[in-house]
Amino acid sequence: MKKLTIFYAGLLLILSVSTMSAQQKTKILILIHSDEGGTYEMAKELAKGIEKNDAATAVIKMVQESNNATLKNIPIASTSELTDYDGIAFGSPVYFGNISTSMSEFISKTVTIWSQHGLEGMPATVFMSSGSGAGRELAIQSFWNMLAVHGMVLVSNGIRGYENIDHTVPQGNTVLGTTSLASLKNVERPTKSERYLAELQGENFARIATALRGTFQKNKVKAAGNKYGADINKVLEKKNIKLPEVPKPAGNYQPFVRSGNLVFINQYALKDGKIQNPGKVGKDVTEEQVKEAAKTTMLNILSVLNQAVGGDMNKVKQCVQLTGIFNTTADYSNHAALMNAASDLVGEIFGDKGKHARATFGASSIPGNSSVEIQAIFEIE
Ligand SMILES: Cc1cc2nc3c(=O)[nH]c(=O)nc-3n(C[C@H](O)[C@H](O)[C@H](O)COP(=O)(O)O)c2cc1C
Repeated sequence: MKKLTIFYAGLLLILSVSTMSAQQKTKILILIHSDEGGTYEMAKELAKGIEKNDAATAVIKMVQESNNATLKNIPIASTSELTDYDGIAFGSPVYFGNISTSMSEFISKTVTIWSQHGLEGMPATVFMSSGSGAGRELAIQSFWNMLAVHGMVLVSNGIRGYENIDHTVPQGNTVLGTTSLASLKNVERPTKSERYLAELQGENFARIATALRGTFQKNKVKAAGNKYGADINKVLEKKNIKLPEVPKPAGNYQPFVRSGNLVFINQYALKDGKIQNPGKVGKDVTEEQVKEAAKTTMLNILSVLNQAVGGDMNKVKQCVQLTGIFNTTADYSNHAALMNAASDLVGEIFGDKGKHARATFGASSIPGNSSVEIQAIFEIE
């Protein structure tokens, strides 16, 4: 019995030490945008370099969802999580001697964090993927301008690793950060040397981020949603609710129109380019299938809404009204139960801000033979 107690105590100690060390590791975010995968390849090398340091751990996230099959499953970062880390490595393609539009858009959404000094003192490093390499140092420098305004500690590469790279072909080494010269096709890109430099950059960054850990205050930004309730961007993340791509208009209309502080949106059950569970309830599809389609429709509405608020769902003040139209037979009367699938989702995400007025009715047909269409009105900042 005594032996068993000692065994369990030992096990508990090992478990608690390993949990503690996982919690205590320097947490580094590698935040990227990538169209063709070049930046992602570099990001993986940085991660390798970071994790060579036993005290550090790296996570790669994208600033937005990608259609590229190799990038599709990379998690998406929210601006609100940036202050949770001990350091951020930023990676982007070079666009006309500058950072990419998507990366720039993402950083533009960090005004709340900036005004609360949320990233001040946090180390940052930058790497990029370019085509020919034209303007690549200018691009990193313009990246640095944005990060300097945030008060981040900018970690450069200097001439680290220069002695060991292959000098017989052009390489994407710069003193500010590693790049790849992706359109120079005589060798595979990123080259071994570019990968090596990216790994070194990660290794060096982890060393500095670990040293600076605790010198700045993490998580100090008040949730941007405090004024009206919880931080909705974080709610979406915690509940693992992924907003789909904004559906393209199927006719001569806009995905949304803003009039004053009201946003008007109409969607149907389009999922991955096809109508989900099409047909008439009770005839072609079951109530359960229509509820699933109603949820998909609501997610489409939320992704358009997210576009209307520039990616910051904390700017939503109220879901004002939802109107659910269902593809039904003339004698059908259980519309309210079908529509609850959409209403519940809004409530789950927005809490009190999700409480809305509602109408439902049946129609003899809906475009694309969708089983449901929803009209939504939201009040935003
Ligand atoms: C709009 C646009 C502008 C670009 N401008 C430059 C440039 O100024 N210099 C350069 O070397 N490459 C430029 N490129 C090429 C990309 O930087 C290059 O293809 C990069 O490797 C893409 O990264 P990714 O594979 O992560 O998407 C540009 C590409 C696009 C789409």
